[in-house]
Amino acid sequence: MLEVLETIEAMRAAAREWQRQGHRIALVPTMGSLHQGHLALVDQAHREADRVVVSIFVNPLQFGPNEDLVRYPRTFDQDRARLEEGAACALFYPSAQEMYPEGRSQTIVVVDHLSRILCGVARPGHFAGVTTVVAKLFNIIEPDVAVFGEKDWQQLTIVKHMVRDLNSPVRVVGVPTVRETSGLALSSRNKYLSLEQHEAAPALYRGLLRAQEHWRAGERDREVMRQVVTDSITAVGISCEYVAVVDPDTLSESPRTLSGPTLIALAAHLGKTRLIDNILLEETQD
Ligand code: PAJ
Repeated sequence: MLEVLETIEAMRAAAREWQRQGHRIALVPTMGSLHQGHLALVDQAHREADRVVVSIFVNPLQFGPNEDLVRYPRTFDQDRARLEEGAACALFYPSAQEMYPEGRSQTIVVVDHLSRILCGVARPGHFAGVTTVVAKLFNIIEPDVAVFGEKDWQQLTIVKHMVRDLNSPVRVVGVPTVRETSGLALSSRNKYLSLEQHEAAPALYRGLLRAQEHWRAGERDREVMRQVVTDSITAVGISCEYVAVVDPDTLSESPRTLSGPTLIALAAHLGKTRLIDNILLEETQD
């Protein structure tokens, strides 16, 4: 049975009761418009704990003034129906008024440096909005485990840092990206794509796979790798915001000659829609 909880008080009471009964709680924070990627997080959460809470909250704090807060897809009934078939036992669905009764939060949680690089360059304030709402969710639910997707690698890294810096007793777990058969990473924002854009979009992952082929063939020049990805994307007329070749833990740019695990992360624009993707390259791959 999926219980829908709309207030902080009711959510906290339910979570406290499970804890009292000795259950372990896993939290899957989302903004709704659920797809198979989100459901993979729910499955992982169920492997980590015996009580799974999914939150659905389109967090105004993480949207910039020119971003898609108003048109962000909201499909609550469908989301609830999807969750009812899976392992989640509670759906936390607060209103903006419930989460931010004063309109905005005076207290902002910022993971400083990591929030200003990569996606943070084009989206100032975005990650501060994410970490603030995630910290609130952690305080409301007090989960043992929180599950995030590797699709948003920078977000996952920032949340891991936040937990470490603030000594939160939450274990953060990452889940590999779920993709369409075309390779396109599932995203709520794929709904914005026109038919033509949807056909072009798999070029993002194709570019990353091409880089992986070069890596496996022994290529270790950062700029060659970056160019391989950029070329694949721009070849189909998609405009690149950035292609970064970085250390997967610190997200700092890799040295010119790559060694050890390397992350290639990108953001691109198809019309007004901004998509991100990444791939982890490891030495053991062959
Ligand atoms: P949202 O975009 O709804 O994503 C919720 C979670 O699903 C995130 O951890 C994201 O990385 C994961 N996810 C999205 N697409 C995925 C895919 N194709 N494969 C695997 N996981 C995927 O990310 C947010 O919401 C918000 O910033 C949030 C963390 C909820 C804070 O408001």
